[in-house]
Amino acid sequence: MTIFETERLIVRNWIPEEDAEQAFEIYGDPEVTYFLRTRETSVESQRQSLIRVVERYKQLNNGTGFWAIVEKETATIVGTIILKLLPDNPEDYEIGWHLRRVSWGKGYATEAGRSMLSYGFDVLQLPVIYAVVKPENHASIRVTQRLGMKPIGRTNKYYNVELLLFQLDAPERIETDKETTNH
Ligand SMILES: CC(C)(COP(=O)(O)OP(=O)(O)OC[C@H]1O[C@@H](n2cnc3c(N)ncnc32)[C@H](O)[C@@H]1OP(=O)(O)O)[C@@H](O)C(=O)NCCC(=O)NCCS
Repeated sequence: MTIFETERLIVRNWIPEEDAEQAFEIYGDPEVTYFLRTRETSVESQRQSLIRVVERYKQLNNGTGFWAIVEKETATIVGTIILKLLPDNPEDYEIGWHLRRVSWGKGYATEAGRSMLSYGFDVLQLPVIYAVVKPENHASIRVTQRLGMKPIGRTNKYYNVELLLFQLDAPERIETDKETTNH
């Protein structure tokens, strides 16, 4: 199922049976996953992980998720975009991005991130969305800047490591004033 489209990208649900090989190109690469606790070691373990993650978000059924980013031009999966609750936190949401290495430097994380934020604000009606980034992850910090996210400082609250926290507030909604619009 497609969640949204941008100029160059389609963001859709993962299909474990079909996508495991392409996912493994992302999650089997130590340069992409250096900050994660686990790295995939085979296409089959990747498939099992996709099945588990897809099932977890299906159960949650709250509009959050972990979606595949597909490049329209080639119909290949270039990465993942995420909107989910921060760990051990009932109300604060984070955005995240992982791109396969050959697709860095094209603006895809920013392009998918921008629409993911709009989805969070417009569809899920979130008042604020956060991002947490390792202090040395300059590429990811640059993505938060391009998205207009505000640096808040360092935090140890999440994932048991020190991370930089970024925040974006929902855009002001302009209430339509019936008195004036009905003229
Ligand atoms: C973090 C990560 C997604 C950033 O990828 P990225 O390609 O640098 O980021 P973007 O997709 O926004 O691309 C921006 C780059 O593309 C370039 N670019 C090329 N064409 C572009 C276009 N049409 N629009 C925008 N940028 C474009 C920009 O100049 C920029 O390069 P620069 O940073 O060298 O100036 C990637 O490094 C990654 O997957 N890392 C591993 C996983 C990870 O760390 N995830 C984040 C955890 S917090």
